[in-house]
Amino acid sequence: KAYSAVLLAAGSGSRMAADRNKIFLTLADKAIFQYALDLFLSDSDCKQVILVGKTEEKAYFTDFLSDRVCFVVGGVERQDSVRHALAHVSEAAVMIHDGARPFVTLSELAALKAHNNAILAVPVKDTIKQVEVSGYISQTVPRDNLWGAQTPQFFETSLIQKVHQLAHSKAFLGTDDASLVEVFSEVPVTIVPGSYENIKITTPEDLIFGQAILDNRSK
Ligand code: CTP
Ligand code: MG
Repeated sequence: KAYSAVLLAAGSGSRMAADRNKIFLTLADKAIFQYALDLFLSDSDCKQVILVGKTEEKAYFTDFLSDRVCFVVGGVERQDSVRHALAHVSEAAVMIHDGARPFVTLSELAALKAHNNAILAVPVKDTIKQVEVSGYISQTVPRDNLWGAQTPQFFETSLIQKVHQLAHSKAFLGTDDASLVEVFSEVPVTIVPGSYENIKITTPEDLIFGQAILDNRSK
């Protein structure tokens, strides 16, 4: 199934507290965002990759641009970056992916493509507490139907464009792209069980986990 990929790299990596945007940090000598870029380019169904970055970091992406890879300027919030990219999508389906998730696999992409609208997610492992401002626990949330959402998130282009436009016009900020489909449409989104290896590199210790995942894969 032909699709476009939106690869998000326009954040600042504030929680990583590194000397630059975390997606340019390297794991085994390769920039974090390049792992997913190379994966999408290895999938013949992926007809277009839209790299979303900051204007002032555009120069860092020029080496990666090609017939299949273009650059779009991101926005203040992740949701703004996605909306900007969606205006340039050429295919009828689109994978939206965080450049900070280097470990997604071809088989996960294939599993997503079997659906019209689907996201990768994993069962929540921790016991989840709801906490009052006082700091006291108000309740323990039953965990059996709780999933942690990941990316890629795969959608029909017309649907995700529509709900992003609606969210923007109503100043609604969701925490992922699927949440906008949930709020602004009746279209169901499928959960595709993913892998606990598909981590988002967010805080410094994630670099250690990431290196361990790479070491394990090269064994
Ligand atoms: N992202 C983006 N545009 C933004 C904010 C985030 O394209 N305005 C991208 C990031 O580059 C990242 C992905 O969205 O690949 C997931 O966001 P997150 O992990 O929060 O990255 P940052 O926003 O860069 O990190 P932080 O929140 O710690 O500053
Ligand atoms: Mg962020």
